[in-house]
Amino acid sequence: MTSSAAGFRPTPRDRLIIALDVPTVAEAEALVDRIGDAGSFYKIGMELVYAGGLGLVRDLVAAGKQVFLDLKLHDIPNTVAKATERVAGLGATYLTVHAYPQTMKAAVTGRQGSPLQILAVTVLTSCDDADLAEAGYAFGVHDLVARRATQAAEASVDGLVMSAEEVAAMRKVVGSRLSLITPGIRPAGDAPGDQKRVMTPAQAIAAGADRLVVGRPVTQAVDPRAAAAAIVAEIASTDS
Ligand code: C5P
Repeated sequence: MTSSAAGFRPTPRDRLIIALDVPTVAEAEALVDRIGDAGSFYKIGMELVYAGGLGLVRDLVAAGKQVFLDLKLHDIPNTVAKATERVAGLGATYLTVHAYPQTMKAAVTGRQGSPLQILAVTVLTSCDDADLAEAGYAFGVHDLVARRATQAAEASVDGLVMSAEEVAAMRKVVGSRLSLITPGIRPAGDAPGDQKRVMTPAQAIAAGADRLVVGRPVTQAVDPRAAAAAIVAEIASTDS
């Protein structure tokens, strides 16, 4: 493993974060049950939160799991800081915000005094250079990720969410203090879906990712437990 925040070294299982992108709390609970001890870290995103899934954060934490609350906050600083304070009371390990300097600084202020860690999303892994140009950006993906990574380190966030393709270069930009977390992961042979910048688990770990976010390859697998276990084994063998 290239590095991790504060020298902490998570187990291969804790390095797999399974995205519970399902429409109901009941489906999320059923998935967590099916995955069992093959999964220890779950991401709860907007789809589930807007379906009443915020209570699942406390339930998963009470069951000994870690939770990544992927709310991708971005608003005026006062609103971001207050929202982060409320999230800090839920027991999640990670909260995401978009990597805008004002937003990152507000979230860092809001989580003060709690163990909640703030992750900044640099550029969504569904975006390529053409998407950024269409949205009015003067930078391509690589340059925008680098710019935002530098600003994230200055804002004292705890980690960055980015494509595994950017990890090796960004490690040089931010050093070892920030955790690098990568979605857009596809085991060899899996369909990319809407992700445009994908890597296999082994490639992402070898590039220096601290943790991997994996959704559909686990949640839509015929056997989600086996799919999660296979990714954990791939992480373990790559990192050995
Ligand atoms: O199903 P899949 O593995 O593509 O899911 C990836 C997950 O990671 C989704 O929950 C998505 O919202 C999230 N994510 C992402 N790209 C980012 C940040 C988060 O795909 N930059």
